Amino acid sequence: MNRKEAFDSIEVNVENRNLIKHMLATEAIMRALAKKFSEDKEEWGLAGLLHDIDVELTEGDMANHSKLGADLVREMGVSKTVIQAVLCHNEAHGITCETKLDKALFCADPLTGLITAAALVRPDRKLAGVEVKSVRKRFKEKSFAAGVSREQIAGCSELGLELDEFIDMGLKAMKGIAKELGL
Ligand SMILES: [Fe+2]
Repeated sequence: MNRKEAFDSIEVNVENRNLIKHMLATEAIMRALAKKFSEDKEEWGLAGLLHDIDVELTEGDMANHSKLGADLVREMGVSKTVIQAVLCHNEAHGITCETKLDKALFCADPLTGLITAAALVRPDRKLAGVEVKSVRKRFKEKSFAAGVSREQIAGCSELGLELDEFIDMGLKAMKGIAKELGL
């Protein structure tokens, strides 16, 4: 499974453009994390890109979300490590994130939401002017983007990353694809 095949499968299974953008943002952060830890960028990128492939198909059924996704990506022939990361990113299943890839996907996923929301409240609605300190401030405001799990983002500590460093990596990764994200 290469990146193009993965993206084509996203286009087949997902209509919502914002959901596709979320997966692109997660992919970008996962690639940055893989680079940081000298891991396989292609593999980590695929986990980010594919992790929510079943969101529309499962129609909000959290008991099924990511189980179906794991089945779908297994059929596509991705590695077992990617299948496992997709499966455990939904904590509703109570499956512990064990590998570095699992942990990276778990904390990168919600970071995209916090950064996107931080960009959208700016007058220009762009990522370019968003700084680490503003995202950090938003992180502390519990009512801001309340659906974004701070606890999950703080899971970056499991990777040995300080929160500011993680936010900085996420911000840079997303700024790198700002055009695709429409931000
Ligand atoms: Fe996600």
